[in-house]
Amino acid sequence: MFEELAARYDAWYDSAHGRLLFDLELACLRPLVLPGPRPRLEVGVGSGRFAAAFGLEVGLDPVRAPLRLAAGRAVAAVQGAGERLPFGDRIFGAVVLVITLCFADDPAALLGEARRVLLPSGLLVAGVVPLDSAWGRRYEAQGRAGHPFYQGVRFLTLAEHRRMLADAGFTVTGARSTLTQAPSDDPVEEDAQDGVVPGAGFVALQARRQPPL
Ligand SMILES: C[S@@+](CC[C@H](N)C(=O)[O-])C[C@H]1O[C@@H](n2cnc3c(N)ncnc32)[C@H](O)[C@@H]1O
Repeated sequence: MFEELAARYDAWYDSAHGRLLFDLELACLRPLVLPGPRPRLEVGVGSGRFAAAFGLEVGLDPVRAPLRLAAGRAVAAVQGAGERLPFGDRIFGAVVLVITLCFADDPAALLGEARRVLLPSGLLVAGVVPLDSAWGRRYEAQGRAGHPFYQGVRFLTLAEHRRMLADAGFTVTGARSTLTQAPSDDPVEEDAQDGVVPGAGFVALQARRQPPL
């Protein structure tokens, strides 16, 4: 899907709606991502808007067309699946996932791989749209109605994300929330808040590797 729609998906970020949502999500993620030591990897990098804004060195995605756009934004673009990362163990100081877990065939395996490639001191940061939010329910309904971006996407609740992180060997060490406003086609500015705000449409979870038993 992203192969044909890459240019359209990327152009959405230049619309008034897309630009505002991008800015809100960036502000939400920033304090959780920036402490991650280099080098840093985004899995599901798409066209590289977030990776470029954060100066992430490497971006991986299964789809070629958006990867070409990411490469044009000075991100080292690698084709591959998050469930089978083509990197050695303990390489990255941060692994960033922005609305990617819900697109992955096997999000649990993707998290396991993220843990494997992280340095012991490394950070995982996952930006998610919880299903238990009005935004998540809206996107899911759009997907069921055949929306080209959301069709087949498996949105998860916040509790499901937390459980998956714990099962993959992560401890949540920080969280921030935004999009506490009702979903609309005309969103407004708002400040991101520390912690998990129940019902927020975008939540960033920062997690660290639990030490091996
Ligand atoms: C909603 S887009 C997000 C792209 C980018 N993070 C952003 O926010 O602009 C989801 C991305 O996940 C990628 N993706 C889908 N399945 C994946 C997988 N198994 N491993 C890694 N990325 C995957 C898609 O190709 C797509 O680029």
